[in-house]
Amino acid sequence: MTILNEQNFEAKLQDRVNKKLNSLISSSNQINESIIYALSNPGKRVRPTLIYLVGDALNIAMESLDALAVATEVVHTYSLVHDDLPCMDDDDLRRGKPTLHKKYSESTAVLAGDAMQSMAIQVILEDKNIPDDIKVQMTKFLMETIGHEGMIQGQALDIQFEEQEVSKDQIIHMNHLKTGLLLEFCILAPAQMADKRNEHWENIANSVGVSFQLIDDLLDLEESEENLGKATNKDLGKNKKSAPLVIGTSETLIEIKKYEAITMESIMKLGLNNHPISNYLKDLFSRRK
Ligand code: IPE
Ligand code: IPE
Ligand code: MG
Ligand code: MG
Ligand code: MG
Repeated sequence: MTILNEQNFEAKLQDRVNKKLNSLISSSNQINESIIYALSNPGKRVRPTLIYLVGDALNIAMESLDALAVATEVVHTYSLVHDDLPCMDDDDLRRGKPTLHKKYSESTAVLAGDAMQSMAIQVILEDKNIPDDIKVQMTKFLMETIGHEGMIQGQALDIQFEEQEVSKDQIIHMNHLKTGLLLEFCILAPAQMADKRNEHWENIANSVGVSFQLIDDLLDLEESEENLGKATNKDLGKNKKSAPLVIGTSETLIEIKKYEAITMESIMKLGLNNHPISNYLKDLFSRRK
């Protein structure tokens, strides 16, 4: 695939997704304006990048991955808009900019998030590059991922846990639901598309998914607001049951290392040591933002 052979392929993939995100909305009204605001603020675009990398490793054309990449970033961005609401984490800063409810209003943030969910489904169903049966499969997979037994269940536990003592296993389970599943989707959906889903991809998906939140929780304690583009040191004040706050920073690092080892071993077993996905995942485990 062309982009992945180039230097700086990450920036090129981000450009590709950003252009597609920018072209989703043509007419202008307040909801649309607020959605454009949320989508165009600078996120890392980790989820679409994973979709393109896994797709490339399995010889899927980029055009057949675009809808999944865009839909997933739209869903992720919606989850952040709602996560920041005063009744949830009550945050004022996101991606270095005022959160959507601060810039517009709370009702606009609720409605923009709602609209982004249906937008994600439309992006997949209206795509011209994937066959109808695959579209149905992928839409079902994505909706299960983010629904009442998936991401939303994880977000519900996150709030519920503010009021109770929890075990390490409960925290890992919550992380798996609220954050892990959407990242899993980014790895398993292309694998499923290529009919190549197997235990190695499952192991990578689970490990990358859970550890992404463990790292986010460490960064909340260790990094600056300026670097992350969001408030830091906020989990303690909100009585969040993040892994580092409950089991400690060094125990959390040990967990992350365990997931990294599983991931890199699975990459090796898939024969992908020399594929760009290998370095991308390595970097994801040592990310500082
Ligand atoms: C932040 O996700 C929220 C979590 C699920 C931990 P990202 O770290 O991917 O945020 P952006 O998209 O780069 O803003
Ligand atoms: C967010 O987790 C998870 C989802 C949005 C589903 P956090 O609440 O830790 O994310 P940040 O720290 O606000 O980005
Ligand atoms: Mg949260
Ligand atoms: Mg939050
Ligand atoms: Mg966080």
